[in-house]
Amino acid sequence: MISPEISLGEMRNAHQKTSNILHKTPILTSENIDKIVGAHVFFKCEHLQKTGSFKARGALNSAILAKEKFAADGVIAHSSGNHGQALAWAAREIGLKCSLVVPKNAPASKSAAMFEYGADVVYCEPTATAREQTCQKLAKELGFYNVEPFNCASMINGHASLGFEILDQIGDKIDSIFLSVGGGGMASSIAFCIGNLRPDINIYLVEPEQKKLNDLLSNDVICPVDTLNTIADGVRVARIGSLCQPILKQFCNHKVISVSENEIREAVKLIWTRLKQRVEPTAALAFAGIAFHRPAHVKNAAVILCGGNVDIDFIP
Ligand SMILES: Cc1ncc(COP(=O)(O)O)c(C=O)c1O
Repeated sequence: MISPEISLGEMRNAHQKTSNILHKTPILTSENIDKIVGAHVFFKCEHLQKTGSFKARGALNSAILAKEKFAADGVIAHSSGNHGQALAWAAREIGLKCSLVVPKNAPASKSAAMFEYGADVVYCEPTATAREQTCQKLAKELGFYNVEPFNCASMINGHASLGFEILDQIGDKIDSIFLSVGGGGMASSIAFCIGNLRPDINIYLVEPEQKKLNDLLSNDVICPVDTLNTIADGVRVARIGSLCQPILKQFCNHKVISVSENEIREAVKLIWTRLKQRVEPTAALAFAGIAFHRPAHVKNAAVILCGGNVDIDFIP
């Protein structure tokens, strides 16, 4: 059952509260890419969002909720990347403290960005259990509001501003949307928002091939590994949030596209060289879905370029 905490009303509320602080990100197109793909592609540039990813949308909504509804002094999360940066930024924007639990092996550049946005960083062992336990313990001690990266209603409701913007900017032009799936926070947000408002638009979930999301949505069979070995570091989590699964089952069953590591690399190269946008591999994953596996009926598609936080020396 879809949680009653997730609703179009909450999504509209979140959009209204956050839109004057967030960027309305641009849409880019390329005739060259359209020729290669064989369809019109509209790139929604979330790599140009505050903090370099769509995560700023849900994080800002969560920080506002922590302050207004729960009167918390601060927010806390576990993260090795974009979620932590987004939450640290959001907390600073609205005047809350922020603590982040970061696995010891996280890239130095990511924790440096968290420090820069003013967060306290606490290191832990690099396992999912250590991250979650350390975070819950600290949240209790500090009295901070714990913002889960994807299995979190305020994140899911907050990300929907991306859906509203897509409908406003190109809703009359597109027949489908391609997006990358990690824990499913962004995917379930867009699927719920657009699936309810515009059921004629197909939402395709693009995953690294080891994730086996089709098995999960069709037969409840969970991927046997904990972490995926993929270049798309934003979607290494193998599972899907319990809040996200019923939404994806209802709106995106049989709309999963699995891509290989090589296809993700080729997609990064195409976006860098043709669109001239330095996105991260997790953003290119969504494009790989349409570039290499386009369903024949897809003629006009939005591709969400979900992030651009890539190390300075990264070469695909
Ligand atoms: C750039 C980027 N894209 C996609 C995702 C996946 O988002 P979700 O876990 O909501 O599916 C993440 C997660 O951190 C991310 O950083």
